[in-house]
Amino acid sequence: VRSIKEIRSRVLKARKKNKKIGFVPTMGALHEGHMSLIRRAIKECGFVVVSIFVNPLQFGPREDFGAYPRTLARDRKILKNLGINVLFCPSGNEMFPEGYKTYVDVKGLGDVLCGKSRPDHFCGVATVVLKLFQIVVPDKAYFGLKDYQQYVIIQQMAEDLNLPIKVCGCPTVREKDGLAMSSRNVNLTKRERLEAPAIYSALKSAKKEIISGRKNVNYIKSYARRQISEKTSGRIDYFEVLDAGSLKDIKKTIKGRVLIATAVKFKKVRLIDNIIFSLK
Ligand code: PAJ
Repeated sequence: VRSIKEIRSRVLKARKKNKKIGFVPTMGALHEGHMSLIRRAIKECGFVVVSIFVNPLQFGPREDFGAYPRTLARDRKILKNLGINVLFCPSGNEMFPEGYKTYVDVKGLGDVLCGKSRPDHFCGVATVVLKLFQIVVPDKAYFGLKDYQQYVIIQQMAEDLNLPIKVCGCPTVREKDGLAMSSRNVNLTKRERLEAPAIYSALKSAKKEIISGRKNVNYIKSYARRQISEKTSGRIDYFEVLDAGSLKDIKKTIKGRVLIATAVKFKKVRLIDNIIFSLK
């Protein structure tokens, strides 16, 4: 379905039949990560909507909006096989017609981690997700913890704006060698693809060090940074150890629910990954 009018009427029909509406927003180029969210939505809801929309608002002027993979025919087949009820893929003009003016800013949470090097990114994400929520009006919406900051921001937005939607977080799906699945992985060079699993290895060894008693943030950061620099040709955008709830810096001693998150910029592709765990 391409029009907002049509998707609204499809969802309304399902709602009249007392079906629970599940929603998985994506930008397409679907992989097992997306599919895990969709399978969970199918398990938990009687009517599942998936959207594919490469949202221009969340790409910076020098980012990969043009090069972002677009594989709609293939995606449609995948979704048909999974057995979703309706695919919503609006045009840019349907979502953001000329004269569009409203933006959603979840203050504070969008300024750290990815927000530092992508200043308008999370405003673009929150804006399009709120619009999609208003169009689809789901009972439950599913997001991957691979994009943990995005998940936290959407949750905060849903709470602050009293959206009657349960925002569900789903675990990160990885390739056999540990690399977090991402639509962007196809744009890595062969060599970069071989190097990329070092990102998750560094996160895991940072966690191991913390659990074994090394609680000094600076030590952990430089220990893990060194591993990524030695094993990849990428440039580390950030490597942070934060409080997983507030996304605030842990000042010195690591404790509580911990988020270790990193972004590494390769030639054309910027990859992100994270680990979350609790310390007693
Ligand atoms: P996209 O990158 O296509 O991701 C769609 C959803 O799939 C997001 O919730 C993302 O966290 C999840 N996802 C991606 N890779 C995953 C993996 N390896 N394991 C588990 N989940 C994974 O995220 C977006 O699109 C956009 O920002 C969007 C929310 C659609 C707004 O435009």
